Amino acid sequence: MGILDSFKKKKNMGTGEVNPEDLLNDNTPFNIREAFNTLRTNVVFALAPTGGKRLLITSANPSEGKSTTSTNLAVALAQNGNKVLLIDGDLRKPKLHKFFGVDYTHGLSKFLIGQESLNESLIHTNIKNLDLMPSGVIPPNPSELLGSNRMKVFLDKVEEYYNYIIVDTPPINLVTDATVLSKYVSGVMIVVHYGSTGRDDFKHAKNQLVMAGANILGFALVAVKGEHKGYYRKYKSGYSKYGYAYGYGYGYGNKEKRQDGEGKK
Ligand SMILES: Nc1ncnc2c1ncn2[C@@H]1O[C@H](COP(=O)(O)OP(=O)(O)OP(=O)(O)O)[C@@H](O)[C@H]1O
Ligand SMILES: [Mg+2]
Repeated sequence: MGILDSFKKKKNMGTGEVNPEDLLNDNTPFNIREAFNTLRTNVVFALAPTGGKRLLITSANPSEGKSTTSTNLAVALAQNGNKVLLIDGDLRKPKLHKFFGVDYTHGLSKFLIGQESLNESLIHTNIKNLDLMPSGVIPPNPSELLGSNRMKVFLDKVEEYYNYIIVDTPPINLVTDATVLSKYVSGVMIVVHYGSTGRDDFKHAKNQLVMAGANILGFALVAVKGEHKGYYRKYKSGYSKYGYAYGYGYGYGNKEKRQDGEGKK
């Protein structure tokens, strides 16, 4: 099945809109918070050997949970006392601002073209230790901006102030933005949407990253249905029509969590 065929198939998948209520908070069911705590631990351990602080989050296709996962991982890291910068690197379809109820028009794109200072672009969210760099106005040339030396200089600069920098990006199989940006980060995490991310899609995305020389740290398996027993606890809350279970695979050795069938001997 070609990549484009699978995009067509997924066209009707959900509304694709993020729900601000999905932001981790005190009312979030315990098992969801636990899933993000586990993801946090795994990310911390996966990043440590790189000596870096920058994690890029992407996925093969649209609407697979990249923005939701990026945001809640950033929240989970901040809740642990880390100073975290969450960057909306999706300059085509920015969403992170919606979780925090803020404007997206001041942010990364304007900073990168020199129209705004860091202070004007960055937002201190109402979550302690968590700052947000919204996308800024949607530019005509997102890939060029993200791959520019200014982006590298920006990341080098903010690294002085934060323990972790999480960058949300567009889908790899659609545009080159995430691949281009992967050269400026310490590692990449691929979001795999349970029952939706196809084997070919995943392989294609992974290959793009490998060819770009990206350091793929692993993948997060999201939207595991509540009925799916075996690997995850049964999910009973009415929080979402899907279960919110997060798995995290290291490299490509974990056969149980693979969606693309690789690793099977
Ligand atoms: N773990 C999850 N379980 C169930 N639904 C989820 C999960 N994560 C995200 N969603 C839902 O999937 C839809 C897409 O989520 P999100 O915007 O985070 O994906 P995305 O990959 O960033 O999309 P895009 O490619 O448009 O940027 C939303 O409606 C969101 O509520
Ligand atoms: Mg997104």
